[in-house]
Amino acid sequence: MKKIDSVAAFRALRSGLNGQSVGFVPTMGALHIGHASLIDESVRCSDVTVLSIYINPTQFDNANDLAKYPETLAEDLELAEKLGVDYVFMPTYQQMYPDNFSYQVEETKLSHQLCGAHREGHFTGVLTVVMKLLNIVKPDRAYFGEKDYQQFELIKGMVEALFVDVEIVGCPTVRENDGLAFSSRNLNLNVNERKLAPKLHAALVSGLSDEEVTLELNQLGFVVDYIETISGRRFAAAQLGKVRLIDNVLRGEHEQ
Ligand code: PAF
Repeated sequence: MKKIDSVAAFRALRSGLNGQSVGFVPTMGALHIGHASLIDESVRCSDVTVLSIYINPTQFDNANDLAKYPETLAEDLELAEKLGVDYVFMPTYQQMYPDNFSYQVEETKLSHQLCGAHREGHFTGVLTVVMKLLNIVKPDRAYFGEKDYQQFELIKGMVEALFVDVEIVGCPTVRENDGLAFSSRNLNLNVNERKLAPKLHAALVSGLSDEEVTLELNQLGFVVDYIETISGRRFAAAQLGKVRLIDNVLRGEHEQ
């Protein structure tokens, strides 16, 4: 497994991969089983797998949230190698933003709903960095987890709208045995919060209405940002202590 930290070096390497299919898994590190499922899928379907590890500052609406984003680089590299990643791209801010973020990719509808209504500019940061990464890596397929379903839909929409020649593949949310969706941010939950966290998924799959779920979670100690059902999918974001959890489920499918 080779590590590359400059755009120029990655581009030179990429031009030597012509003729081989390239799968790409973009991440912000702190890899978990959910990321492993994306890497497994890429390794299974592509000749070459590229992983990026880059904590993208432009998608954080809050400096404190960025400062406490978990970093586990040594473990990430060990796992990536074990799973069969060929190249890890780990750029710096200077490499990714030579324009200092003066050029931005903005979607004007969906990006302002759900998480976008609570995290100003978040999806503009996500779409901009993903567009840059896709232009550098030039993958045949790029893999995203459905836990971040709004992000997945926005990225799929962006590549269609801007004619980017890549297949965006969504992979199912991977959950702990108690239902909690794997997320890098779970590392920041304390013992009591970790015990409470699965109640979010349990409430989403209950037969309760969105309003009843909001009430129940707020009573349990979450601070709910939103519980909203759109086109048969129930979306949720709630703060538990200092950690913001998001999740979504298809309604009807697992409802109890
Ligand atoms: O889902 C993530 O980890 C990030 O939003 C992504 C897609 C790697 C962009 O920074």
